[in-house]
Amino acid sequence: MKRVLLLLATVAIAVPLLGLGVVFALSEARLRDFTRDTVFEQPVEMDAGTIERGRHIARTRGCLGCHGQQLEGKDFGDQWDWPERAVAPNLATYARDHDVATIEAAIRQGIGANGKALTSMPSFNFARMTDQDLLALIAFLKSAPVVEIELPQPKLGWAVRWAFTNGEERHMAEWVDAVPTLRVDAKAEPQRARGEYLAMTMCNECHGLDLRGLSIFPPPTPDLAMVAAIDREEFERLIKTGVGLGGRKLQLMSLVAPDRFPELTDEEVDDLHVFLS
Ligand code: HEC
Ligand code: HEC
Repeated sequence: MKRVLLLLATVAIAVPLLGLGVVFALSEARLRDFTRDTVFEQPVEMDAGTIERGRHIARTRGCLGCHGQQLEGKDFGDQWDWPERAVAPNLATYARDHDVATIEAAIRQGIGANGKALTSMPSFNFARMTDQDLLALIAFLKSAPVVEIELPQPKLGWAVRWAFTNGEERHMAEWVDAVPTLRVDAKAEPQRARGEYLAMTMCNECHGLDLRGLSIFPPPTPDLAMVAAIDREEFERLIKTGVGLGGRKLQLMSLVAPDRFPELTDEEVDDLHVFLS
């Protein structure tokens, strides 16, 4: 009798553990399942003009909003409800500790320095960033003063591991592959092409990979074709303040807009407006 109970107890403990082990192993394999397109190797120029351009990119693409206004890193805890704990690393130290190819893979390809696909970093928003803007951004990150804070270890959590195991969830290298290519011919229509580039590296984080409002994470966002109905002044007010049309109070947009977009130049606002409408 005792032996039977012992056997049952062993099975009761071993089977769930084995199950967790299998989910862990399969989700780890999934996070390593991608092909790395390129190994990016170009020299980073560290002159003042390039660094200032890089600062503008970091501001308008939300790096500062998520990684901290001094690039010090940020603990998102369980705010995004799917990873158990998302932690955006300190980018000033990261840029000093890693080579350009590794930094490029994280920003544009969704691949982390540990060789695994990222999960919360929105690399799909930066997949189409030009080499020139990327190099300026890296110059800014490398030259920014290092401010250190204590950051906890990130944690993926079992629910997400299970979603990767059963194929419900896509990792960042897969989302990057789903981003449409830029369509406007820059020679024929330079202004619309500039606007498309801006929208596809700033707005597709939340307004859908193709800006049609099918965001890959909540909350819901409108199709940006709606901009056709807004004039240039209204559009500028909306994206620089995050106050909705007719003075409506918005939610996520009211947080990101004043953090990222107030320093868009007149030309950038014109280009965006022309392209979106
Ligand atoms: C919506 C928030 C968000 C934005 C915007 C964002 N990041 Fe991240 N980033 C994260 C999180 C969270 C991580 C941690 C890795 C993960 O969970 O995917 C991360 C990880 C990284 C990493 C490290 C990858 C590794 O090797 O593990 C780099 C480099 C990075 N981000 C650069 C940037 C840059 C540059 C920008 C702006 C162009 C940016 N991030 C914008 C949230 C963000
Ligand atoms: C981090 C996410 C995020 C980014 C980045 C973002 N938006 Fe939004 N936007 C939202 C959300 C969410 C809404 C819906 C309202 C809300 O919940 O705040 C919204 C609403 C809007 C609206 C409708 C406003 C209204 O009055 O109904 C417009 C127009 C808009 N965004 C334009 C843009 C443009 C243009 C960009 C790029 C320059 C952009 N957004 C970038 C999240 C974002």
